[in-house]
Amino acid sequence: MANSKIITGLDLGSGTIKIAVGQAYQDELEIIAVIEHPSEGINKGVIVDVEEVVSSLSASFEKAERTIGFPINSVNVGISGTNVLSQESRGVVAISRAEGEIKREDVRRALDAAQTIATPPNYEILHVIPKIFKVDNQIGIKDPVGMTGVRLEVEAQIILDLSRQIKNLVYCLHRTGLEIERTIFSALATAETILDKKQKDLGVAVLDIGESTTHLIVYEEGDILTVKILPIGSRDITSSIAIALRSSISVAEMIKVNFGTSDYRKVKKNEQIDLKKFDEGLEGQFTQQFLAKIIHEKCQEIFKMADKELATISKSRKLPAGVILVGGGSKLLGLVETAKDALKLPIFLGKAKGFSSELKEALDPKFATAIGLIILAKEEKDHFGASIRDGRGIFSIIKKWFKNLLPY
Ligand SMILES: Nc1ncnc2c1ncn2[C@@H]1O[C@H](COP(=O)(O)OP(=O)(O)OP(=O)(O)O)[C@@H](O)[C@H]1O
Ligand SMILES: [Mg+2]
Repeated sequence: MANSKIITGLDLGSGTIKIAVGQAYQDELEIIAVIEHPSEGINKGVIVDVEEVVSSLSASFEKAERTIGFPINSVNVGISGTNVLSQESRGVVAISRAEGEIKREDVRRALDAAQTIATPPNYEILHVIPKIFKVDNQIGIKDPVGMTGVRLEVEAQIILDLSRQIKNLVYCLHRTGLEIERTIFSALATAETILDKKQKDLGVAVLDIGESTTHLIVYEEGDILTVKILPIGSRDITSSIAIALRSSISVAEMIKVNFGTSDYRKVKKNEQIDLKKFDEGLEGQFTQQFLAKIIHEKCQEIFKMADKELATISKSRKLPAGVILVGGGSKLLGLVETAKDALKLPIFLGKAKGFSSELKEALDPKFATAIGLIILAKEEKDHFGASIRDGRGIFSIIKKWFKNLLPY
């Protein structure tokens, strides 16, 4: 326990709340618990019923505290939901020192200037992520600190969310008796534990297929090109099954997880499955191939939406490191094949890294976001200041709005 610190990551998913607890040492991170609990009051990542969220959060944290045997007081929480936006921005500052040497403080000022963009009404900036700098006429600079010049310009990616959403989240956590250490856009956290530097440099996308949303984040040359939260998820596959088989959602979910595959070419055509097997009240039979075709169609819809987003940044079929699938929805059999056909890119299942754990579940793709939140929080602690020094930090403004928002 000596020289270690407990860090908690909270991922408020539309289907389930995921909590990961890590014990962080100087150069090591051990995940000591991963907990999942059904979430209520969240629709497509957006809080729609505060009371329900508070009650699900309380139950989740009780479960987590029972597992680890000590209380959790503060969390690093992921921000998600279909309202999250990303846009590019620029900030320019003059370097007025006689010797013209660029200091960390100048980078900070340039990032502040990049925040003064015209944000849509009722939106708050979550992150200002520096991409590339320009010093006088020299372009393509990754780290300007120590260089000399009179004009410093930063090109940054800004991530925003509806103020009301952030306020609701802060309120729910406050009501649960939890302090917020950091709020981090979920897709950034997921990418942190799934991707390595090489993939980010080459060009790669992460597709986090959740219950009712699919997060897309694209990197190239180490920078974020775009983020998008698509309003479709694995629940839509379940709904299609329920409609086709005229079953309840819970039966359809069971069928999807236990018999579902999206690769209809690989299933036995005529093998009949009796619906009675799942619910005494249900009549009839269906073939594995019929089921697979329904699932395949929905998966294609998800990938088509993702491909459309890639096309808007001219990256459709053009990501050398391919697309990495994560989230609970990525566990569907046959999904990699369907994604390859639809996206015409290399497709891989994501594997979380950057930690050790004795828990097999820590490698489950549904926990990638909660664990990524811990990894990002730890990195910020290790290099606090350095993230600003090298101009690559994403935490430059995290606490600012938080202070503005409390008390509720
Ligand atoms: N083995 C499996 N096969 C198919 N689907 C699965 C499997 N395991 C989980 N899922 C699906 O994954 C989905 C939940 O994924 P996840 O936990 O990542 O979502 P979430 O984070 O709660 O939601 P969101 O990210 O949309 O807010 C559910 O729809 C579930 O049916
Ligand atoms: Mg999720």
